Amino acid sequence: MIIAIDGPAASGKGTLGKRLAHHYHFRHLDTGVIYRAVAKAVLDDGAAIDDETAALAAAMELDPEKFGDPVLKTQGIGDAASVVSAFPRVREALVSFQRQFAAEPPGAVLDGRDIGTVICPDADVKIFVVADPVVRARRRTLEARARGEDADEALVLADILKRDERDRNRPVAPLKPASDAHLLDNSHLDIEGGVRAAIAIVEAVRAGRQRV
Ligand code: DC
Repeated sequence: MIIAIDGPAASGKGTLGKRLAHHYHFRHLDTGVIYRAVAKAVLDDGAAIDDETAALAAAMELDPEKFGDPVLKTQGIGDAASVVSAFPRVREALVSFQRQFAAEPPGAVLDGRDIGTVICPDADVKIFVVADPVVRARRRTLEARARGEDADEALVLADILKRDERDRNRPVAPLKPASDAHLLDNSHLDIEGGVRAAIAIVEAVRAGRQRV
């Protein structure tokens, strides 16, 4: 079984993906980390973040061993990831890695922006997570402060809105729900409530299948 979770920055889709994978004993891939790792590699090489050739080279040399680097979680790298992820050739270079991950048993949860629309259009369950940008900014600020980073909530909100705009309006694989995605608004849910709502969606889809 493949579960696709998409949604905007700081919507909580990553935590949800991890928790759902744990619940179903599936493997989990946070695909945002892939774009973040590419962005970091470009910057580490001293190239400009909008250098498409450098980004493509970094995507082709992707090293999943580096996905755990805590620097990848920072806001600066997230913003840079949004830039490299808009290059169509960079996205293409990363498709097969994601599809291979999704295909391996016993099942997988992938979260990102285009999992239900481009990477796994035949996913068994598609969930599109949304949340009020103000709520997302609040959560992301608290997370950053918990990591010891200095975070200004107004700047975090501005960054989220800028990133949403870029992710939604890029010509290739824009952020949008698949036509068969289930919307999950977690603006007023805590993590546990969001996980329960997601499990309810998966179970409803499974029950519907069994009846056919
Ligand atoms: O989910 P995140 O904040 O870790 O994602 C960082 C950036 O990577 C995001 O601004 C857009 C890009 N991204 C993407 O284009 N496609 C994905 N499947 C995941 C992330």
